Amino acid sequence: MLPGFATPEGTARYRDRFFNLREAGHFRRPLHVPGVGELWLSSIGLGTYLGDPTDAADQAYTESIATALRSGINVLDTAINYRHQRSERNIGAALRKVDDSGEIRRQEVLVCTKAGYLSFDGDMPADQRGYFMREYVEPGILDPAQIAGGMHCMAPAYLENQIARSLRNLDLETIDVFYVHNPETQLADISREVFYQRLKDAFVMLEKQVKAGKLRYYGLATWGGFRVPEGARDAIHLFDVEKLACEAGGDSHHFRFVQLPFNLAMPEACGLLNQGHGREKMSLLSAAERLGITVMGSATLYQGHLTQGLPPVVGRILGMKTDAENAIQFSRSAPGLTTALIGMGRKQHIAPNLKPALVPPTPADEWQKLFTQH
Ligand SMILES: NC(=O)c1ccc[n+]([C@@H]2O[C@H](COP(=O)([O-])OP(=O)(O)OC[C@H]3O[C@@H](n4cnc5c(N)ncnc54)[C@H](OP(=O)(O)O)[C@@H]3O)[C@@H](O)[C@H]2O)c1
Repeated sequence: MLPGFATPEGTARYRDRFFNLREAGHFRRPLHVPGVGELWLSSIGLGTYLGDPTDAADQAYTESIATALRSGINVLDTAINYRHQRSERNIGAALRKVDDSGEIRRQEVLVCTKAGYLSFDGDMPADQRGYFMREYVEPGILDPAQIAGGMHCMAPAYLENQIARSLRNLDLETIDVFYVHNPETQLADISREVFYQRLKDAFVMLEKQVKAGKLRYYGLATWGGFRVPEGARDAIHLFDVEKLACEAGGDSHHFRFVQLPFNLAMPEACGLLNQGHGREKMSLLSAAERLGITVMGSATLYQGHLTQGLPPVVGRILGMKTDAENAIQFSRSAPGLTTALIGMGRKQHIAPNLKPALVPPTPADEWQKLFTQH
């Protein structure tokens, strides 16, 4: 297993390998928080959600990840359930390749993964229930009473087991960022009180994993939880969740990352005031900044839908050539968003998607015009 984790020195060395990207402000130090705030992270990251669970897609992903690392992308995002653990294994293989050859070292790269969904191994088994009974229930890792919606579990023993598997898949001694995956899924089934207790139990375990050197930081990766109105049943309130992290790990807790979709069709992180702090209402991006939490944006291209047919005003304001470039420039220019994640299972997409990173992000006052001009 590759030792180490992303470090300030390693990520600064990575930034300095790419003069043009560095000069254009592609690498960011997200926050004024000791440790995580000292890392240099690329404004575009590579995601590994989509694609078939096949050997051909594995090969394409592994090549694409290595190409991304060689091209100026040092944020990698995955989850244990993505392509039934294959995406994690592809990241492991690509990182190993570039580290062994001395091209890029492990300390230069932020590797993020997630768990929470029930995960299969390599393929969907014919007998899914039988697989879970044998693999998780009979050995006492998973209590079926802790499963929400028939597919989600964030009980400490299950997450701990998933972390150990992820480390093996990624071939790493330490994961940089571990997210509880779409925890809002649970709110369809359980009360907010039980939800908070489950999250806190998970955070206590995650703080222990940090102490044991298995993780550096943890957080929540969400789909709807941070994008719905404050009063919605599945809304996640960041100030409350951060309080749970303080209870679990004290003021210097390691709950330092959140992830949510952010793109031209899903701009809520910036525009929706769904985070309450006393009487104050603010956006997720403002709340995260206040709390010293780094925000990663997912689904930058809305799973490919934003690569064509955008209204001309978008290009006029953002100034890039293609719709894909403009969609990427939109997300990476959002004030307070550190990295815009793009799924790139094929290496052909790396160079075109890095074009926006060769120019500075759109200034905030220009960027805001997207919400007022038609
Ligand atoms: N709740 C969560 O935790 C959550 C939810 C969604 C996403 N995510 C993370 O965010 C990452 C990004 O989101 P996503 O993968 O769902 O969607 P996305 O980034 O919006 O879109 C990815 C899709 O767009 C294609 N693509 C990339 N560049 C392109 C270009 N220049 N022109 C045309 N097509 C292009 C990709 O093709 P190829 O793959 O063939 O290159 C892929 O099919 C995910 O991979 C995942 O890591 C997390």
